[in-house]
Amino acid sequence: MNILVVGGGGREHALIRKIKENPSVKNIYALPGNGGIAADAECVPIGAKDIPAIVEFAQTHAIDFAVVAPDDPLVLGAVDALNAIGIDCFGPTADAAVIEGSKVFSKTLMSRYGIPTAAHRVFDDAKEAKAYVETLGAPVVIKADGLALGKGVIIARTKDEAFEAIRSMMEEKIFGDSGSRVVIEEFLTGPEVSVLAFTDGQTMIPMVSSMDHKKIGDGDVGPNTGGMGAVAPNPFYTDAIAAQCMDDIFLLTMHAMNAENRTFRGCLYFGLMLTEKGPKVIEYNCRFGDPEAQVVLPLLESDLLDIMMHTARGTLADADVRFSGDSACCVILASNGYPGAYDTGFDISIPADILAGASAQVYAAGVRREGDRLLTAGGRVLGVTAVASSLPEAVEKAYEAAGRIHFENAYYRTDIGAKAVAEGGAR
Ligand code: AMP
Ligand code: GLY
Repeated sequence: MNILVVGGGGREHALIRKIKENPSVKNIYALPGNGGIAADAECVPIGAKDIPAIVEFAQTHAIDFAVVAPDDPLVLGAVDALNAIGIDCFGPTADAAVIEGSKVFSKTLMSRYGIPTAAHRVFDDAKEAKAYVETLGAPVVIKADGLALGKGVIIARTKDEAFEAIRSMMEEKIFGDSGSRVVIEEFLTGPEVSVLAFTDGQTMIPMVSSMDHKKIGDGDVGPNTGGMGAVAPNPFYTDAIAAQCMDDIFLLTMHAMNAENRTFRGCLYFGLMLTEKGPKVIEYNCRFGDPEAQVVLPLLESDLLDIMMHTARGTLADADVRFSGDSACCVILASNGYPGAYDTGFDISIPADILAGASAQVYAAGVRREGDRLLTAGGRVLGVTAVASSLPEAVEKAYEAAGRIHFENAYYRTDIGAKAVAEGGAR
């Protein structure tokens, strides 16, 4: 089979490694991929948002199955366009991807179908938004409606910070049209859990839970990033909580999307907060999380491509979905300065035993290749994932490998997994 994967980060590298375990895969193409992914797939310089070029490539390369991994092409209708030329895809169509593409849509869905989430209101007028903040007080959360590169959520500690966020989103339009409408919502507290789930609209199969580490600094300080590391499973997510989420959140969401004529097929990502009043949805994503995919997929024991094909065809109930009982930890090696400005173009050196996957898996994100040199080319450069029978061991192995990978200007958090281990992730 010829497989096409749209995207080019660490998540896509983890997907590609897993898909390749299926013996019937002949060619696997990454659009655009990156210099590190090139070791596992043929990378083609077509941007993930260039849907006409993706369709043309698929048509001319006898693609049997496509996986659209990032949010932008999903929201822009890449799956619709590929389906239209007869290519099966893993990923939701645009009308279902709106669950991530519009916060107004997702918040309205949750209110309408009684799915637990933070209390909120939607505004398209800055004055009214500010008046609502006056009544709510602070802290309060301001969210741009549309996609904003993961930066559209502002946690305002004071009313003045909230006014400033409303001004910059709605009046200055720092996120363009994504900020024309905003959601203002109640500030919740509690441990966060990411749950990725396979669903075809009839069946919902949650994967092993995980925990992202979004802040740039140790101890969860500093600005938000795309994610600086992850662990799986998430020890805060007990079996009892999982059962409650299945009934009160996951299945309700699947049925709600069906009722709206927006059947979701693909990976639905539930960003949850375990509050004192029970689990609540912080956000939905219409795709695998990154770095979550880099800890969840290495724990998948069954055949990913087979599961994806079943999901696309609406036969997920027949798929074999099994996770090992092991734990995984992923440490992201970033360019110093990220998520602000940073330099790139530094040589990356990875010891041969690590490259061979002996002690860890290295997934490439911001990497380019020049001859046989690998150079840094982005904010998040590599994800280093280790798997072990216990979480403390997985954390130790990931850091041992990360410490032996070098490039100038490297930065990584030193406490990935610490909170999870303290919570009792010792199994
Ligand atoms: P997002 O970009 O939607 O993933 O949101 C970024 C982060 O903002 C989340 O991971 C949470 O840590 C935080 N967040 C979002 N909504 C709320 C909320 N209502 N209360 C507290 N924190 C929130
Ligand atoms: N790790 C969060 C996300 O993928 O959106």
